[in-house]
Amino acid sequence: MRNIAIFASGTGSNFDAIYQAVNNKYINAKIALFVTDRPKCKALEKAKNYNINTFTFKSKNYESKKHYEQEILQELKSQNIDLIVLAGYMRLIGPTILNNYPKKIINIHPSLLPSFKGKDAVGQAMDSKVEVTGVTVHYVDQGMDTGEIIAQEPLKINNLQTREQIETEIHKIEHKLYPKVIKQLLEDM
Ligand code: GRF
Repeated sequence: MRNIAIFASGTGSNFDAIYQAVNNKYINAKIALFVTDRPKCKALEKAKNYNINTFTFKSKNYESKKHYEQEILQELKSQNIDLIVLAGYMRLIGPTILNNYPKKIINIHPSLLPSFKGKDAVGQAMDSKVEVTGVTVHYVDQGMDTGEIIAQEPLKINNLQTREQIETEIHKIEHKLYPKVIKQLLEDM
């Protein structure tokens, strides 16, 4: 069975969706590690409730990204991780981890990349008054939301919708698309 690691910094609704998909055997894998940079985030609480191994760090306690990523790397290696899944992890992955997991790190982003990279992609889409936005799953490289695209799903929006309504629709798409892509990638390994 393949081992996956989830990295998250926030609420963890995508983490939840992946956990459910693993739990009901839609995804044939084990979530062997959960990594967070936010000791107080909801996602960490969930990981603990699910009895998943966790690794928590505070970046300010380290000299540099390289130093905390070396510790994360040790955890990844000791758990024999096959796929790293970023689910609302609010940091760029550096070369220490990237070079050890080429094409084995994926991220989900709430826009149709390459549009609206970075923070608050939904706000950016609303400000730009686009009629279609969506969700992208992509491989992770050194850049911010720049890696090769794996899957995308569009969402029609209009100016009558509130941010909250759009975010709810985005999340619904994410919670189906991410488990589907993870399942496929693991089967193709
Ligand atoms: C998601 O919208 C995802 O696209 C982005 O961060 C958000 C995480 O949400 N990368 P959650 O913590 O999974 O609820």
